[in-house]
Amino acid sequence: MHILITGATRGIGAGLAEAYRAQGHEVTGTGRSSGAEVTLDVTQPSDHRAMAAQLEGQPIDLLVCNAGVYLDKGNDLDSGYAPDLWAQSFAANVTGVFLTIQTLLPNLRAAPAPRIAIISSQMASHTRAPGGSYIYRASKAAVLNLGRNLASELTGEIAVGIYHPGWVQTDMGGSSADITVDEAVAGLMARFAALNHKTTGCFETWDGRAHAY
Ligand SMILES: NC(=O)c1ccc[n+]([C@@H]2O[C@H](COP(=O)([O-])OP(=O)(O)OC[C@H]3O[C@@H](n4cnc5c(N)ncnc54)[C@H](OP(=O)(O)O)[C@@H]3O)[C@@H](O)[C@H]2O)c1
Repeated sequence: MHILITGATRGIGAGLAEAYRAQGHEVTGTGRSSGAEVTLDVTQPSDHRAMAAQLEGQPIDLLVCNAGVYLDKGNDLDSGYAPDLWAQSFAANVTGVFLTIQTLLPNLRAAPAPRIAIISSQMASHTRAPGGSYIYRASKAAVLNLGRNLASELTGEIAVGIYHPGWVQTDMGGSSADITVDEAVAGLMARFAALNHKTTGCFETWDGRAHAY
């Protein structure tokens, strides 16, 4: 398989890239820094255009939209959540995912059984709403909605799954998080392998439970 993973420079994205490579798959890891196979700041339309040119004619079997930011962690309701944080967060977590998928549609359509995995979060869920992290929650809810609608529009053509990767020990999750990157990666890889036209539109946790929307 040819697998493209956004945000493959560290954390869950780097773990997925390493594990798929170890299985012998061809992995294109994207990142904002120059070390990645494809330089892609997901918020930058010019980077998307350059990626389209670089990958023209190369089928992609699995696209993992993993890149994301959590900029309002610990913000206070009375004084936090500045407008700029909303703009930056939605540019990366929502628009960035949409642009990545839109850019790579020709590559996905050239593969025999293409799939898109969107890394959202349990914090997207409307049924789990303890308050706080308003920007991150809203952005992850928006990308869940995006995935559900794409699953409908692309039915029979490209399967789309949306995932909560667990609370993972990364720069974003912090060292006291529940699970290691390796545990999250093993679970997510099993979920992506099970994604097909019957399960398209699913919102699942890394360990295989259906998540409430
Ligand atoms: N860790 C958790 O507990 C947890 C829980 C639920 C959901 N998630 C989600 O899982 C995904 C991965 O999280 P993580 O824990 O691995 O985070 P992380 O360690 O902070 O890594 C984030 C990755 O996203 C990339 N990224 C951020 N903004 C980008 C942009 N504008 N363009 C391109 N790449 C960008 C980073 O690239 P740079 O190296 O260039 O910054 C990095 O590779 C995210 O979508 C996150 O919201 C994580």
